[in-house]
Amino acid sequence: MATNGKGGKRAVVGEGKASASRKTAATGVEPAKGKLGVMVVGLGAVATTMIAGVEAIRRGLAKPIGSLTQMGTIRLGKRTDNKSPLIRDFVPLANLNDIVFTGWDIFEDNVYEAAAHAAVLKPEILSELKPYLETIKPMPAVFDRYYVKRLNGTRVKKGKNKLDLAQQLIDDIRAFKKTVDRVVMIWCGSTEIFMEPTAVHQSIAAFERGLEKSDIAIAPSQIYAYAALKEGVPFANGAPNLTVDLPVMIELSKQNAAPICGKDFKTGQTFMKTVLAPAFKARMIGVSGWFSTNILGNRDGEVLDEPQSFKTKEESKLGSLEYIFQPEIYPDLYKDIYHKIRINYYPPRGDEKEAWDNIDIFGWLGYPMQLKVNFLCRDSILAAPIALDLVLFLDLARRTPELRSLGIQEWLSFYLKSPQTPPGLYPEHDLFIQSMKLKNTLRHIMGADLVTHLGLDYYD
Ligand SMILES: NC(=O)c1ccc[n+]([C@@H]2O[C@H](COP(=O)([O-])OP(=O)(O)OC[C@H]3O[C@@H](n4cnc5c(N)ncnc54)[C@H](O)[C@@H]3O)[C@@H](O)[C@H]2O)c1
Repeated sequence: MATNGKGGKRAVVGEGKASASRKTAATGVEPAKGKLGVMVVGLGAVATTMIAGVEAIRRGLAKPIGSLTQMGTIRLGKRTDNKSPLIRDFVPLANLNDIVFTGWDIFEDNVYEAAAHAAVLKPEILSELKPYLETIKPMPAVFDRYYVKRLNGTRVKKGKNKLDLAQQLIDDIRAFKKTVDRVVMIWCGSTEIFMEPTAVHQSIAAFERGLEKSDIAIAPSQIYAYAALKEGVPFANGAPNLTVDLPVMIELSKQNAAPICGKDFKTGQTFMKTVLAPAFKARMIGVSGWFSTNILGNRDGEVLDEPQSFKTKEESKLGSLEYIFQPEIYPDLYKDIYHKIRINYYPPRGDEKEAWDNIDIFGWLGYPMQLKVNFLCRDSILAAPIALDLVLFLDLARRTPELRSLGIQEWLSFYLKSPQTPPGLYPEHDLFIQSMKLKNTLRHIMGADLVTHLGLDYYD
């Protein structure tokens, strides 16, 4: 037995006999009643692919492939119990039919026009969805070119200082709240320049003073996050920006029971890295070098072509290997890894990114080997279901008494290149550990036994 963190006893038998302490119905998780409002910052390739996809699925035109919340199952009890319901039948998630989208962008385009510009989805499906997509028009954004140098839009809010801009976002949130039952915000906006925390980020009071003085260390993404968390709205960050990974945001998140999680959708190359690296480590295979390069030609690629935005992305992508390989514990295997990441803007490819990885590994007696990965992926096709799942799970966290005031939802690391943890705790990047953590969190909040994969009692 282990404790459940609140002093109560909790069975961790998993593969074992049905636990005597298995909880029954009353889990305290509130049902997903009414409409879920989703406020999307940045109506570009990822956002429009998510919105159009949700509408296509609602109309029965497509299947929600890539979405764990929609297609995933969760095993309950022993393997011999044969009980694996859909996740969405096990935990009370918002139904796709109850989602209402709105958003902000610096361009005037409605979601149909923005999706057509992004050119991810085929014109045939977009024209079928056009009447709906045209109804979603962006609200004017909080934007400043200093933080995203390659973009220049006109649909931008004006205010006497950053506090005034935050207040305008809060007004947008409050107006939208009147039309729906619950709200979640997700950043699908561009990658901002590389920034580091300063004194202004250390407390709510310091941040509010900074907003008033329009402190340069406060980027637009932080103003959105502040507005959301202040209003008790959970916030997900799809970009690698310095946004909620700050003391002020953690404080606000806890104070207002508005869950947050890490950042930067884990879609293509890093997704593969966090699958392959744990495999090498599990078999004690050494790695001397990992060279990753990409070409992509969408607007994201154009923004990342600018060195300061690229640095933000680079930092986010670099972290995973260091944490998975733990060179301080395995110096003979991973001490001298040369890890290099390149992203090249190449317009002909549009959203259809191509990534190459050359991995130099070594085995028994130090003999060298190589592995090459060539991933021809579609960036936004991989990101859209992740954005949807994050929205649905953050809404669930907000309705779960045990999760809502924790601030950081580490169990959502599964979706993110840069998982967020409390200070002093290293982030878990291994995709399969992340997957287990996510599913065990769902079992835990629903009062089901955790699955440990021990399984000794099958041999009793
Ligand atoms: N597609 C992927 O696989 C993937 C993976 C990880 C992270 N991301 C990140 O997700 C984000 C979105 O990617 P995308 O391909 O949709 O990019 P995109 O350029 O197509 O869309 C971004 C949109 O955000 C808008 N925007 C920028 N700053 C804004 C602001 N302050 N307020 C409101 N709108 C703003 C832009 O005008 C643009 O329409 C990027 O930061 C990207 O790095 C994408």
